[in-house]
Amino acid sequence: MDNRPIGIFDSGVGGLTVAKQVIKVLGNENIVYFGDTARLPYGSKSKETVTRFSKQIVRFLLTKDVKSVIIACNTASANSLEELQKTFDIPIFGVVVPGASEAVKATKNKKVGIIGTVGTVRTNAYKKLICDYDSNIEVFSKACPLFVPLVEEDWTNNEITRLTAEKYLKELLDEGIDSLVLGCTHYPLLKQCIGDVVGENVKLVDPAKETALTVKKFLTENNMLNDSKEENHHIFYVSDYTEQFDVLCKKALKKVYKPHVINIESY
Ligand code: DGL
Repeated sequence: MDNRPIGIFDSGVGGLTVAKQVIKVLGNENIVYFGDTARLPYGSKSKETVTRFSKQIVRFLLTKDVKSVIIACNTASANSLEELQKTFDIPIFGVVVPGASEAVKATKNKKVGIIGTVGTVRTNAYKKLICDYDSNIEVFSKACPLFVPLVEEDWTNNEITRLTAEKYLKELLDEGIDSLVLGCTHYPLLKQCIGDVVGENVKLVDPAKETALTVKKFLTENNMLNDSKEENHHIFYVSDYTEQFDVLCKKALKKVYKPHVINIESY
């Protein structure tokens, strides 16, 4: 048994949608969350920069004695997972591998859409993994860079967001996809709007739950679950704080957690 916390990080608040599933699936675990709110967005940055930022964050999380790390950001998972796994001596999980396996299970007509940041779509990480699972699946990817600022603005379901979604998703719908991967951890906050635009015949795939289940399986098999009977702790850190964090935290986790602010550049 291992009662140390699980580290979770994202460029900002998007990873809270993954934290939510981790809290649900791994209810007895302590969590240390870091959101790099001062340096968001990651989606428009180079692989080198995203990897450098991610390494700093893992170094910070290690100072909190985490037993494993979940990269709750598709951009960092797609660009930096392998490098982080090579660099650090603790189990590190991304969201892309679980998301790809969910997409393979979800599609019936073997036409899958992927939406994400420019930085995620550029790597073709989802496409490669899905085609490795089943080479008959056709994958259509679309970068949707305006979605993250719309979520950060808390415009999750208004006219502008709907029009933006219609414009981005039209070409994927024209290809006849029956499943759509929400390949950015901010996007589950737009689920209602995206779901309305794609209609009920397109299944939305959120990698968060499968990620939490993957981590649970690993911790169980390696005898690393928390067996403490004490109340668990969820602690939040950010690199910059504004009230907007509270608004989005409430939306994602149905509760406001006051974050501590740290200087991530010093790690
Ligand atoms: N939430 C991040 C992701 O899953 C992207 C947000 C950003 O661009 O920083 O890719």
